Amino acid sequence: MDNLESQELALLLDPERIPRHVAIIMDGNGRWANRRGLPRIAGHRAGVNPVRDCVETCAQMGVEALTLYAFSVENWKRPRTEIDTLWRLLRFYLRRELPELNKNNVVLRVLGRLDALPAKVREEIDYAEERTQRNRGMRLNLAINYSGRAEILDAVNAVIAQARLAGTLDTLRLDEESISSNLYTSDLPDPDLLIRTSGEMRVSNFLLWQIAYAELYVTDTLWPDFSRTELMRAFLDFQKRERRFGGLVMKDPVPAAIAEDEWIEETAVSSK
Ligand code: IPE
Ligand code: IPE
Ligand code: MG
Repeated sequence: MDNLESQELALLLDPERIPRHVAIIMDGNGRWANRRGLPRIAGHRAGVNPVRDCVETCAQMGVEALTLYAFSVENWKRPRTEIDTLWRLLRFYLRRELPELNKNNVVLRVLGRLDALPAKVREEIDYAEERTQRNRGMRLNLAINYSGRAEILDAVNAVIAQARLAGTLDTLRLDEESISSNLYTSDLPDPDLLIRTSGEMRVSNFLLWQIAYAELYVTDTLWPDFSRTELMRAFLDFQKRERRFGGLVMKDPVPAAIAEDEWIEETAVSSK
C-alpha cells in the first residue's frame, strides 16, 4: 500500500466481498498531458505506473481477474506516432514488469485481434504470456486491439464453424452458453465492477457481453493520477451497492394483508 489513506480505506473493506473480476477503462492520458502542456505521449508514459500499482493491489486483495483496456480497435484512428509510442510502452511494460508479475503469481493474457500488431510486440506478448502461464494467482488480462462487438461476432462465427464441422448446422440454435464459452473470457466470471477514469459515461466497445450486470464506477480522476486510494474508494463504493440482477431484495416485504389480487383490482379501478 502506498499511503496511510489507502491503508485505512482497505481496513474498511469486507474481505468476503472483494469483486472477483474488475475491469478498467484506463482513460485520460491525453488530457493529463494537455493540462501540463506536454505532448500526449507523456500522458501515456505517466499511465504505466498506475497499471503496476493496480495489478499489485488487486493481486494482494484477492481479486481473481483484472481486465485492463489498453487499446481499442478504434484507437487505430490516432496519429501514427502516438500508436507507435503505445506499442513501445507496451513492450517496455511487459519486459519491466515480468519479474514483478511472477513475484505476485499473476497469469498474464492479452485479449484482442493480435495478428494486426507489429511482430516485435507480438513476440513480447508471447514471451510474457508463456513466462507467467504456470502461475496460479490473479489473472491479468490486457485488452489490446480489442472490440466487444468483434469479440461477440468471432464467438458467433466460431459456433457456426464448429456446427458445420460436426454436421449439425441445420439444427443449430445459439444460446447464452454457446456465446459465453467462445469469448476470450470463457474461463472467468463476468466483471463485477467496471471502473472508468476521466469522467466519460460510456463503455467504448469494452466487454459488451460480459458487463451485462457489472456495477459501474466512473471517476473524474485521469488515469495517470489513479492511485491505490482511488481503487480502494471504488471497492468501497462497490461494497455499498445492492446487486439485484433483476430480482428483488426483500427488506420491506409487503404485508400479507394486502392481497395481490385486491391491489391489482383497486389500481385498475382507480386508474379508470
Ligand atoms: C487512454 O487515454 C489511453 C488509450 C486510449 C490508449 P487517452 O489517450 O484516450 O486520453 P484522453 O481521453 O485523450 O485524455
Ligand atoms: C477507451 O478510451 C479505450 C481505451 C481506454 C483503450 P478512448 O479514449 O479510446 O474512448 P473514447 O474515444 O473516449 O470513447
Ligand atoms: Mg480517451
